[in-house]
Amino acid sequence: MKKLSARRRHPLAALVVLLLALACTGGLYAAFAPASKAQADETAQSLAIDEGKKLYAVGCASCHGTGGQGTSDGPSLVGVGAAAVDFQVGTGRMPAQQPGAQIPKKKVIYSQAEIDQLAAYIASLGAGPAVPSEEKYGPEGADIAKGGELFRTNCAQCHNFTGKGGALTHGKYAPSLEDVDPKHIYEAMQTGPQNMPSFPDTTLSEQNKKDIIAYLDAVNSDDTVSPGGLELGGLGPVSEGLFAWVFGLGALIAVAVWVAARTAKARKS
Ligand code: HEC
Ligand code: HEC
Repeated sequence: MKKLSARRRHPLAALVVLLLALACTGGLYAAFAPASKAQADETAQSLAIDEGKKLYAVGCASCHGTGGQGTSDGPSLVGVGAAAVDFQVGTGRMPAQQPGAQIPKKKVIYSQAEIDQLAAYIASLGAGPAVPSEEKYGPEGADIAKGGELFRTNCAQCHNFTGKGGALTHGKYAPSLEDVDPKHIYEAMQTGPQNMPSFPDTTLSEQNKKDIIAYLDAVNSDDTVSPGGLELGGLGPVSEGLFAWVFGLGALIAVAVWVAARTAKARKS
């Protein structure tokens, strides 16, 4: 007892108490503050999932099943990921209307906030590719020349050399890539919609995807990329061959007619 009261009166006692109190509040803050922030994120996330679930029940469940398990009218969405939803709904392909060879792009009927909620709900059903952040598809640090090379080896067989699109078999087609949002280009590569193969990071790295997007942006925004002359739709050997036939043969026939006319005239005189 005596010992303690002696310590209490010690000149440093007040300081020790103060330090202890500070350590306590610091510790309490550390224990509670980040937890409540994480908790806030979690509630926001589960709210988005709830909202998404409601939107899904109204607009998508009839074809994709009440829990996203799929029906005879639409595939399972378990594990397709947020990126697939953001692409499909963000380009107006989903909700699909009538069956056909290929589901076309339409007017987008959901706001981006609603698309994010739908994506959050589908992502909660099973892990899949996430929506890319802007730095992944932005132009910083992209190599356009490399992108062109990658595009010609991986994409041009369907989308044409400058991304102008082309027909495939059975009424299917690879659309033009002009005016496609860079985010949607990235997501198309991640998820491979309909008859397009997917290009996961193991096939085309994040940097490769960035390069391809920068290349497409360059060929579609800049007319000077065309080497000059009449463009002929950039369709390659077919249209250029046709051009040679129509104009080349036309010129030869014109020459033949002219020569014949000259000789006929020469004979008469
Ligand atoms: C009329 C039926 C129908 C409706 C309604 C519909 N879908 Fe689809 N959905 C389909 C079909 C069919 C496909 C498969 C297209 C294909 O790959 O050929 C598909 C594909 C998808 C895919 C791509 C799956 C993948 O493997 O990448 C996503 C994502 C998707 N739908 C989301 C939605 C969402 C979200 C909604 C509601 C806003 C919706 N769909 C409404 C029929 C429908
Ligand atoms: C085997 C043919 C094929 C190859 C190879 C291919 N695509 Fe596609 N691509 C398609 C088809 C078919 C569609 C239409 C799918 C749909 O409407 O759901 C498409 C759609 C797209 C879209 C969506 C366009 C839009 O209007 O919303 C983008 C972007 C795209 N492809 C980019 C690429 C890129 C980049 C590559 C190369 C890394 C590539 N594709 C390789 C066939 C192909």
